[in-house]
Amino acid sequence: MPETILSLQEVTKSFGGLKAVKNVSLRISQGSIIGLIGPNGSGKTTLFNLISGVLHPDSGQIFFRGLRIDRMSPHERFKLGMCYAFQIPRIFKGMTVLENTMLSLKEQLGEKILTAPFRRRWFIQEIRNAQQILPLLEDVQLVNSYDKFSSDLSGGQMKLLQLARTIASDAKLFLLDEPGAGLAPSLAKELFKNILKLRNEKGLTFFIIEHRLDLLFDIVDKVYVMNRGEIIAEGKPEEIIEDPKVKEAYLGG
Ligand SMILES: Nc1ncnc2c1ncn2[C@@H]1O[C@H](COP(=O)(O)OP(=O)(O)O)[C@@H](O)[C@H]1O
Ligand SMILES: [Mg+2]
Repeated sequence: MPETILSLQEVTKSFGGLKAVKNVSLRISQGSIIGLIGPNGSGKTTLFNLISGVLHPDSGQIFFRGLRIDRMSPHERFKLGMCYAFQIPRIFKGMTVLENTMLSLKEQLGEKILTAPFRRRWFIQEIRNAQQILPLLEDVQLVNSYDKFSSDLSGGQMKLLQLARTIASDAKLFLLDEPGAGLAPSLAKELFKNILKLRNEKGLTFFIIEHRLDLLFDIVDKVYVMNRGEIIAEGKPEEIIEDPKVKEAYLGG
């Protein structure tokens, strides 16, 4: 059985009288691509906020790579190898695509102020970083725009740049909240193909909320379905679409 990277046990979160996430338990294996779907307001984003540390659960436990993390800060979880797209700093418009992506790498290495005056060492490190980044930009179809200013990118390309930065952070688990939203269909398709490739080649784990089920179902190993704060179904896409509980949730039953 593959190693578990993330597990939730009976996780609950209320906002006032509303139970946005209700007794959610799940287990995600390392190297898998898992989908999270459900109607609007079913608690998907709240669940990601609980996993990433933006919110703390009222009750229940969350484990990441064997450690209990539900009381840790988002930054502590990030350092352990969990990456939520929102945790990546904003894109700097006055920098090029390459420079923006390299920023994430540096954060991970830790900017060493003492080595900055030694320009030669710094320069070699920059080249090494760039060599690491270019294949990533290739993965998100931005390699030909590497020297463009970020302010000149389209909205869709900006999203791809954000994804490249997320991946450059060297995390092991990626929480992506609707990566396909706002992308032209062909670009979105490419993006999902590249997520699959990153999993296959690097063993990365992806947990993805996505409304565009056609894109999601092409690449996932398994899907969880939420409705009114609860997981109401889990399984392979072909099992999920036949599930009467899922059909009812989507019809607003
Ligand atoms: N910070 C918040 N304060 C109060 N209510 C919230 C907050 N965040 C989400 N909610 C409510 O919790 C429910 C689940 O929201 P959300 O997790 O965003 O759902 P989804 O991502 O599935 O659309 C919704 O009813 C939403 O209005
Ligand atoms: Mg949401």
